[in-house]
Amino acid sequence: MNMENVINYKKASEYWAEIPATLDGVLGGFGFISDIDIDGSKLFLQSLLSSNNAPATGTALDCGAGIGRITKYLLAPTFDTVDAIEPDGKFIETIMNFVGEYKVKIDKLYQTSLQMFVPEKKYDVIWNQWVLGYLKDKDLVSYLLCCRNALSQNGVLIVKENVTSSGKIEEDETDSSITRPLKKYLQIFKQAKLKRIKQCKQTNFPTGIYPVYMFALIPTDSNIETIQTEDTNGQQNR
Ligand SMILES: C[S@@+](CC[C@H](N)C(=O)[O-])C[C@H]1O[C@@H](n2cnc3c(N)ncnc32)[C@H](O)[C@@H]1O
Repeated sequence: MNMENVINYKKASEYWAEIPATLDGVLGGFGFISDIDIDGSKLFLQSLLSSNNAPATGTALDCGAGIGRITKYLLAPTFDTVDAIEPDGKFIETIMNFVGEYKVKIDKLYQTSLQMFVPEKKYDVIWNQWVLGYLKDKDLVSYLLCCRNALSQNGVLIVKENVTSSGKIEEDETDSSITRPLKKYLQIFKQAKLKRIKQCKQTNFPTGIYPVYMFALIPTDSNIETIQTEDTNGQQNR
């Protein structure tokens, strides 16, 4: 069976339309893992910002932003301005309130879907988290190509997603999404002409949920060659 067939954009948006605009809502009942998640993301982002050829801290884009959880706790404290893209009307209306004092840092809020979005070329960091499982492979490759072209000099594209342990694509009919194995993401990055400069497995999440990986990606034709793979405890892994 072609797993792409299980992705139905209309069904996914109908699912999210019924979900409350809360931390627990956007994290599927796992609101309690948000702090651990953000701590892992901060370590990852800080290591990129302190590396050679670090991205600037001008403008970031939060993709599939939900209520602005990542904008509030990760991006706005570090970047001068943050844009966000989110298709659900009730979520996008919540962002300005949810981010509180950081609302002065929010510039553009785009109410649209990633598969229809072409970002402007100005982003130092483009953060995609827990959203790429809603895109069909071919749309994901096109979208990542657009993101690649939207990076400023030294800009970095971040993907933080669940991956399967089975090595196979697994489907979720409830929200019309798929979870991909690591090797599938690596194929997709290659097709989108992106290479990894850093990869990190999130630690300290509760057992029983999918492993979560962070990837820092830059255009394949860039001169930077290093790839570091580790987990959020600093242990080397692959
Ligand atoms: C699991 S939530 C994650 C929200 C946020 N990234 C976070 O980590 O807090 C998934 C989000 O993706 C959005 N989404 C679903 N399909 C999408 C699509 N095709 N394009 C953009 N966003 C989408 C949903 O509306 C929802 O806000």
